[in-house]
Amino acid sequence: MTTLLRIDASARGVNTQDSSRGSVSRQLATAFEQRWKMKYSQDEWIRRDLGAQPPEFISEDWIAACFTPTEQRTEAQRQILALSDTLIEEVARADIILLSTPMYNYGMPAALKAWFDQVIRINKTFSFDLTRGDFPLAPIMSGKSMVVLSSTGEFGFEAGGIRQQMNHLVPHIRTVSHYLGVEHLFDLQVQYQEFKDQRHQDSKSTALEGIGPLMDKLGPLHK
Ligand SMILES: Cc1cc2nc3c(=O)[nH]c(=O)nc-3n(C[C@H](O)[C@H](O)[C@H](O)COP(=O)(O)O)c2cc1C
Repeated sequence: MTTLLRIDASARGVNTQDSSRGSVSRQLATAFEQRWKMKYSQDEWIRRDLGAQPPEFISEDWIAACFTPTEQRTEAQRQILALSDTLIEEVARADIILLSTPMYNYGMPAALKAWFDQVIRINKTFSFDLTRGDFPLAPIMSGKSMVVLSSTGEFGFEAGGIRQQMNHLVPHIRTVSHYLGVEHLFDLQVQYQEFKDQRHQDSKSTALEGIGPLMDKLGPLHK
């Protein structure tokens, strides 16, 4: 059995009355989930809705708690790390992380960044060892896949596109997800959402058509 962790990061929900309104990235994730469940009905799903319930930002006390050895932590420090522990446990259980996210200000939403800050934690998800030289950080977990399903209002964020240099969404996610043990990252993006024209419809169709081939790539890795 494969375990999938579905994370939704859009501040917008799904509009069940009118699919042209509401979160596009959530629609993509739901399409993926439905296709996956049709093929692999026995798999386990974990859900985390960051748009509806953004994680707390980390704080000075949070950082101090992380750097305090586990057995020396006070009850207050254990409480501070409780959410992080829960979120890391969800990641640890997952073979595949299905992440739906909008682009906000050319990068990830604050709620998603808050989640990454909570789950990338020393001695839990990465180790730090100066004997490794200039790259002292190494992930503790391994073998995970991540599927990033994103939506943007503008366009041209793909390799060679007119806004490639302004895309700080997927490249940032690719960099940080390494520290969660993600070894394979696949992404599909719907663009032109703000134009609401035929190009947006075509982009959405292309992304939806990409789900099948993407599942074909994930199958051999996790089945
Ligand atoms: C606060 C905010 C910031 C945004 N910033 C960008 C941006 O920098 N570039 C872009 O192409 N679209 C931007 N958009 C448009 C969204 O990426 C687009 O509406 C996308 O479909 C949102 O994802 P969702 O449909 O899943 O909610 C922004 C939208 C909002 C609400």
